[in-house]
Amino acid sequence: MKIGIDLGTANVMVYVKGKGIVMQEPSVVAVDDDNVIVAVGAEAREMIGRTPANIQAIRPMRAGVIADYVITEALLRHFIQKVQTGRRFGWGKPEVMISVPAGVTSVEKRAVRDAALKAGAGEAYLIEEPMAAAIGAAVPISGPSGAMIIDIGGGTSEIAVISLGAIVVSTSLRVGGNKIDETIASYVRKKYNLMIGDRTAEEVKIQIGTALPLERELTMDVRGRDLIAGLPRTIPMTSSEVMEAMEPPLQQIIGAVRLVLEQTPPELSSDIIDKGMVMTGGGSLLRNIDKLLTQVTGVPCHVADDALNCVARGTGLALEHFDFYKKYLGSQM
Ligand SMILES: Nc1ncnc2c1ncn2[C@@H]1O[C@H](COP(=O)(O)OP(=O)(O)OP(=O)(O)O)[C@@H](O)[C@H]1O
Ligand SMILES: [Mg+2]
Repeated sequence: MKIGIDLGTANVMVYVKGKGIVMQEPSVVAVDDDNVIVAVGAEAREMIGRTPANIQAIRPMRAGVIADYVITEALLRHFIQKVQTGRRFGWGKPEVMISVPAGVTSVEKRAVRDAALKAGAGEAYLIEEPMAAAIGAAVPISGPSGAMIIDIGGGTSEIAVISLGAIVVSTSLRVGGNKIDETIASYVRKKYNLMIGDRTAEEVKIQIGTALPLERELTMDVRGRDLIAGLPRTIPMTSSEVMEAMEPPLQQIIGAVRLVLEQTPPELSSDIIDKGMVMTGGGSLLRNIDKLLTQVTGVPCHVADDALNCVARGTGLALEHFDFYKKYLGSQM
């Protein structure tokens, strides 16, 4: 059995040949006082912010890399086992392809591979995220023409230019959806003296957030705890307020995109101007972020189909067509 895994900071997605994305759950593990794992994935996420004192919900992947090795292994085991249930014994251990951020160190790569092998994989291969995103978005990578990918995830944004099957220029910044949520929460705290949780901030972003002004303003009632009275309170928020709140992280993403464009060799830049930049990852679903990037760079930017799943699909496809892609996977160590 061949399994592609996008081990993201926010979500783990699992792709199986012939079936597509078979699992998608938050990258969260809940442990008790004695570090015993009590829940993984969706069940663990439900516990965030409402757990009894002795249970802690952990996101083991931070900024796209393994922050907690043992917990990451538990997370991988959960997915590998769940995908295999219902299959008869005797199928042997699965082969897995896991995405890692571009430019992770060999120590980090080894940690991911070891975690996968310990979690029950028979063989584990790694692929750099921008490469997986390009494959999943059906952007040709093997030709001599430059292609640019902007993947905005929960923990990181990765921007890369690929040509002849290799990453020519790339940068990764620790700014993504989570950081955007945090800045929305701190804006609400400062402006309204209202404390809101991360999940509420994310809802605000998804429901009414926008990167450019909207013709018709959206509004939403936002519920939190008043910092002075200590009691629950609800305030109405508008999309232009959310836009203002999100400006600092969006500026950081713009800065990184500009940097990559500046570092791109001229021949490849002209390919990118022709074909445009392709966005993937959950963060690319923010209203008008593609238009904002087009506006500030002058290079057309579009969101890939099924942007949230591109990396996962790419890991699966890379494994399915391993003979073709192996030369593009780089060092596995
Ligand atoms: N419609 C939307 N508008 C804005 N943001 C969204 C939307 N849908 C999802 N997101 C954000 O996308 C992020 C998750 O994206 P994704 O699943 O690509 O991240 P990840 O792969 O787990 O993280 P990383 O790649 O950093 O490791 C979350 O921060 C989520 O809030
Ligand atoms: Mg990702």
